Parts: sequence; structure tokens; C-alpha cells
Amino acid sequence: MLRLEGITAGYGAIDVIRGLELELRDGETVAILGPNGAGKSTLLSAITGTIRRRSGIARMGERDLMRMMSHEIVAAGVALVPEGRQIFQPLSVRDNLRLGAVRLAREGGHTLDERFSFVFGLFPRLKERQAQHGGTLSGGEQQMLAIGRALMSAPRLLLLDEPFLGLAPMVVSEIRAAIAGLRKGGLTILLVEQKLDVALDLATRACVMIKGELKLTDSTENLRRRDDLNNLYFSLAAGE
Ligand SMILES: Nc1ncnc2c1ncn2[C@@H]1O[C@H](COP(=O)(O)OP(=O)(O)OP(=O)(O)O)[C@@H](O)[C@H]1O
Ligand SMILES: [Mg+2]
Repeated sequence: MLRLEGITAGYGAIDVIRGLELELRDGETVAILGPNGAGKSTLLSAITGTIRRRSGIARMGERDLMRMMSHEIVAAGVALVPEGRQIFQPLSVRDNLRLGAVRLAREGGHTLDERFSFVFGLFPRLKERQAQHGGTLSGGEQQMLAIGRALMSAPRLLLLDEPFLGLAPMVVSEIRAAIAGLRKGGLTILLVEQKLDVALDLATRACVMIKGELKLTDSTENLRRRDDLNNLYFSLAAGE
């Protein structure tokens, strides 16, 4: 599905991520863990082409993401749920969702109506509130809207940037269940998450990013057995 080799990217003259290798197989959910400022969101921007990638290979199937503009990458089936949700507050829930379908892939026979039903099926609360302004939703509902908006483009690869940040446990479990449902439906997911328990539960593999490099990639099953799990970032950073 996605293959990254030797990806180096950053802002201005500064490289934030260096020599990054990552492969996602079809239908797999992989978590990227790591402390604040490690470069997790930068990695997602490098995949979606919203920052300059300085070197490396990024491919999705036969497609060379390095040569594509960010809107072409969306049209190719990659959707990002950005950190902080970034919904359009003055727009209604329905219009926020509709904007997510601007690049709805023509291949696959998807229609706008079918995407609305899919998203409303996943998050019935969005259906109930479709006429409400985005800005009047609760934090959890805004996160549902951000995920729903990304799903409107019928992506094959969903990138989630800390979707649970700042949310109450009840709504965290609701959104977790929705993501688990997407995974069961065969969607390929790259999940950036700081909470170890959530990441290990949703993903089959996880990578730990420290200072722009992936220091460890392993199955979540193996990671759970590590006795330094609670200090994973520190022990990996110390092992430099
Ligand atoms: N637009 C930008 N311009 C310049 N530097 C940036 C920009 N965005 C991020 N950085 C820097 O890049 C580094 C990595 O940031 P990034 O946002 O990718 O980290 P992160 O792992 O997502 O952190 P967090 O968990 O806090 O979201 C940080 O040092 C940050 O200051
Ligand atoms: Mg981030």
C-alpha cells in the first residue's frame, strides 16, 4: 500500500525527519508513537505532500507520491485527519463533510450520497447534527466530523494525527470503536498516537519515533511484552 524509503523532510533549511523507512501493507493498521516534537505530524505532512520532501522514495502501489501535488495525493486515496481537527467552524456539519468529498475518487463508483450514508452510519451523531455549525459541536463530535470529512473522499489510506487528544474517556471509546470498525472493513490506517495503550490496542505494528528517526518498529504483540514499556521513549532515546 505505502512504502517510504530514506525520506528526509523538514521546514526551511532544517530537516525534521531523517532517512525514514516505513512500509504499510494493505489493510494494516500501524501506529507511530513518540514524544512531543519527535516529527510525527511532519511525517504525515511528508506523506500528504504538504511539505517539501528533500529526498527518498514514497510510493503508493505504482504511484510515485514524490512527484505528486497534495491534491493529487488525496485523489489517489490518501486522507489526513489533522492534529487539532481543523474543521470549518462557521460551516454546517453537512457542508464540512461535503468539502471532504471534493476529491472523491471517480474510480470505485463512489457517490456523494453513498459517502454520506457511510459516514452517518459510522457516526450517527453527525447525522442528527448535520445542520448544526461545526463550531458548536463538542470536542468529541468535532473529532468525529474531522474523521468523517476524511472518509468522504473514500480513501484507501487514512492518516490519523492524535485523534483522541483532549477527549473524555466515553467519547474516546466511541471513536476507538469506529476506528476499529474501519480497520475491520479493510481500510489501511496510519495512526499517530501518544497514548501507548490506545495505540497498542488498535494497531498490529507500531514504530517509535525519537528526534525524527524511527528507533524501533515491532509488532504490538512484542511491544506489549517489553518490560521497559512505560519508559520506552526514554530507554530508546538513551540508547542513541
Ligand atoms: N511549520 C513549521 N515550521 C518550522 N518548524 C516546524 C513546523 N512544524 C513543526 N516544526 C518543528 O518540527 C519538529 C517536529 O514537529 P512535529 O509537529 O512533527 O512533532 P510531533 O511529533 O507531531 O509533536 P506533537 O506530539 O507535539 O504533535 C518540532 O521541532 C517543531 O518545532
Ligand atoms: Mg504532532
